[in-house]
Amino acid sequence: MPVPFIDLKRLESGFLDRWSEKVRTMSENTAFIGGPEVAQIEKTLVETTGVEHAVSCANGTDALQLALRAVGVGRGDTVLLPDFTFWATFEAVVNVGADPVTVDIDPAEMHMDFDLFCKAVDQHKPKAAMIVHLYGWGTSRLAELRAFCKERGVVLIEDGAQAYGVKYKGESIYKGADISTISFYPAKVLGAAGDAGAVLTSNPEYAKVVRSMANHGRSEHYSYGYVGWNSRMDSFQAAFLNLAHEFIDARIDSRRKSGEFYRKAFAGSAHKCITPPSDYVENGYLNLMIYEPAERDRIGAVLKEKGIGFAMVYPGAMSEQEGAKDYIKAAIGGEHASTAGKSVLNLPLFPYMTDAELEEVVAAVKGA
Ligand SMILES: Cc1ncc(COP(=O)(O)O)c(C=O)c1O
Repeated sequence: MPVPFIDLKRLESGFLDRWSEKVRTMSENTAFIGGPEVAQIEKTLVETTGVEHAVSCANGTDALQLALRAVGVGRGDTVLLPDFTFWATFEAVVNVGADPVTVDIDPAEMHMDFDLFCKAVDQHKPKAAMIVHLYGWGTSRLAELRAFCKERGVVLIEDGAQAYGVKYKGESIYKGADISTISFYPAKVLGAAGDAGAVLTSNPEYAKVVRSMANHGRSEHYSYGYVGWNSRMDSFQAAFLNLAHEFIDARIDSRRKSGEFYRKAFAGSAHKCITPPSDYVENGYLNLMIYEPAERDRIGAVLKEKGIGFAMVYPGAMSEQEGAKDYIKAAIGGEHASTAGKSVLNLPLFPYMTDAELEEVVAAVKGA
């Protein structure tokens, strides 16, 4: 039986009828920009993450750029970021005119190496740094990282594109951040029907700047306090997110159960299935398997042959991308991010996978 890597069509019963009804009503009312749906998703984000301000925007990449601009990062500033992330993290730094310095990962946990990061701060005196909460959890050293950045006056921006629903030390991971971002790309844990994103912060000044910048830098309709751009969240996307949010607990619960299913099934075997550090409750965004590179490719080939979907998040380091060449100021550390790119394999994980599907995947991997 083929199993897709992700199936976005597996929606709750009645979901599509309610969505069609919303689209119809909103279209009749020409409720296209802003309005109650956008206000509602922002309210929900505040309530569920524990931050004081949630500002919606067009996508998770813009959210990163808005956050960087809000904390004052601009031309000639240095920004540290992990060498292993989605390209948008790197891209955002360059797009605000700053100089990216990548920091290698700790292969034991596949997140930015905290000790290397501390050295990089001393060496490069960055204005800001970014940490990325990958896979549905984050680094085990998040509290230390936040405290270190505070002590050194380095603004820490947390790329939480993948982290909606993640709990860190019993609270939403976003709550303890100075400023963080979310992506609502359809495949994310809370996914829209297109592109959408948000910036979260409890700092009212940051929130004010982000809200203005995401709307052309407006102070009033035809007065502009900043040069921003149009990064407003589309009202239809907000409406879809509000509807999806009604089912978020069931979706996350289902994801977490599938994540656990894999861990139990591979426990004690030659297949290394990564578990989040103990301070975290994951949101079940991704399964993460680690192999020797040749073995990863061999297993990938077998899965392909059997029609089992898989991904490699991520297949390469930021510092080795062709597009990085003209912008990267330095790459701190060794080759762990590069090796990780050749070692990672992600098995299917999405809401409402059946036990039969999970068993099929496990059998295919074990039989490879
Ligand atoms: C870690 C990370 N950062 C940033 C982004 C960018 O978000 P978006 O695709 O909504 O622009 C994504 C998602 O694609 C992501 O996974």
